[in-house]
Parts: sequence; C-alpha cells; structure tokens
Amino acid sequence: MSPASASNSRLRALVLGSAAGGGVPQWNCGCRVCRLAWSGDARVKPRTQASLALSVDGVNWLLLNASIDLRQQILATPPLQPKGEGRHSPIAAVILTNAEVDSSAGLLALRERQPLMIFGTQATLEAIEANRMFDVLDRVVASRREVRLGEAFEPLPGLKIELFAVPGKVPLWLEEGKISLDDVGEATVCVVAEAGAKRLVYAPGCAHVTEDFDARIANADVLFFDGTLFTDDEMIANRLGDKTGRRMGHMPVSGPGGTLESLARHAHARRILIHINNSNPILVEGSPEEAKVKAAGWEIAFDGMEFSL
Ligand code: MLT
Ligand code: MN
Ligand code: ZN
Repeated sequence: MSPASASNSRLRALVLGSAAGGGVPQWNCGCRVCRLAWSGDARVKPRTQASLALSVDGVNWLLLNASIDLRQQILATPPLQPKGEGRHSPIAAVILTNAEVDSSAGLLALRERQPLMIFGTQATLEAIEANRMFDVLDRVVASRREVRLGEAFEPLPGLKIELFAVPGKVPLWLEEGKISLDDVGEATVCVVAEAGAKRLVYAPGCAHVTEDFDARIANADVLFFDGTLFTDDEMIANRLGDKTGRRMGHMPVSGPGGTLESLARHAHARRILIHINNSNPILVEGSPEEAKVKAAGWEIAFDGMEFSL
C-alpha cells in the first residue's frame, strides 16, 4: 500500500457518548457521582449515552449505536453536521449492537428522510421493526440490512465490519418470564472494525469474557469495553436499584471475573472503558477507583474523545 492510500484509510474514531443508560448525571439521581455532576464539580464530566462514530475519509461517518442523546451529540460534533444546502448528513450508516433504548432510540432523531443504512442482527432489527414508532424512518430511504454473525460487510468504503456474539440478554424492554443472562447469540453483539491494517473492537455490553471473545480481541489495536459498573452490587449498595450488574448483562470492572482481571492479558491493545453507569466511582477524577483502573492500563472514555489509527 502506498503511503498516500495508507493515510487515506486511517480509521478515525469519535466518542459521541460514554455513559450507560440515563447518562451522567441521570435525571432523577442523587448518588455521589451524580451529586458532584449536578453541582458542577470539575471532577465529574457530564456524559451522554454511549455511541461511537467511525470514518476512514473524515467525510462519511458510521455510528455504532444511535443513542437517545444523538441530537445533542450531533450538535456537539461538527464533522456530523450537514454540509452545503438542502438535506445532507455525513452520517451514512448506523450499526446497532442491541435493541436497548439507549442504543437504538436515537434512530427516532434521524427521521427527516435522509438516505441511511441501518445494520443489525435479525434479532435486533426484528425488535426494532416490531415497535411501530420506528416506522417514522421510512424504509425506502432508511433501509435496514440484516447482518449475520461473522459476515464481513462494508458500511463505508474502506471500512470492513464484522459482528460477533457476546454473552448478554434480551433488551430490558423485551424481558419477560425467566431471563437467560448467558445467551451468546444475536441479542448482544460486539463490532470489529478494520481499516487498512488497524482493528478496533466495540463491546459496550458483555456479561462475561468467553474464549471466543478473548481470541477475537487478541490482535485488536483498540478495545472499547463495557465499563457499566465498578462493583457488581453497586446499584444495590447505593440504593439505586435492586439488580446486580450481571443481572443487567454487564460484568463488573473490578473483582473476581471482572474486566480488569479477565482482560489483563490484552495490554497490547489500547483499552478504553465505555457505557459507564452514573453510579460508577471511576467517573470521579482523582478517586481510588479511577486510579486502580488507570494503573491496570485502562482509559476511561469521555464525550468528545477522538483519535486516529
Ligand atoms: C443496559 O445497557 O443494560 C440497558 O441499556 C438498560 C436500559 O435500557 O436501561
Ligand atoms: Mn445500556
Ligand atoms: Zn447517579
């Protein structure tokens, strides 16, 4: 590859949002982290709900999930704003990793008849299609494309994508009866993006690290990974809810079987926690929990974080 084409195919990543469902601060939350955020304390950056934008030419962009905060994220991100006259958007495609509200409801903000491709597994697209509110995105202009696990596709020229299953559960709004927390199927997927020789993995939700996942990130240059909770019982301990992280399909950052332990051998990759819940103490700059994560070689995503590979 010539130096010119190598630089043309550089993968650019923009973190549009870095928080889990509800963002930081969360509208009805007075936990320690949210109280600091509400009071404007500089130690806690406000965060919108998790989404990543990728591009290889800096002109056309792919969104990994359409967060419910998407409009606010576009307002904060000049490369995603319309150029020229009439209808236009640099956003050419969206990939959904699941059908949760915080990853898919932002599609409703893209309903002004803009040509767009929406990619997801059959399970995820069927969940979206079953909800008639999404019919506001006319299929004639916002076309849906089902992707099989492990099938390579190019949502943007020069950007190769593959989806693979990670352990998870059905979306919260589709839970009924006994919930299997360990399904490895189409409900929760992880995105592998490749441009040139660079590889980025986006896994904002993962219930535990499987051998398959471990093998697939072995040659990743960058890994964005589920940073929802620091400790599994954090929501309960803070009296914010009655579920553990594992019950929500999210493995904890710390502790036995947690992310720091499970992914310790992948220090070759730039490792970044994303989809961070408002209760997570790593969000407080200078906290011992933040120090622990950093000492283990991890970074903490923030809105507006950007880099090229
Ligand atoms: C999750 O990541 O667990 C979901 O986004 C939950 C939710 O929709 O609030
Ligand atoms: Mn979520
Ligand atoms: Zn909170």
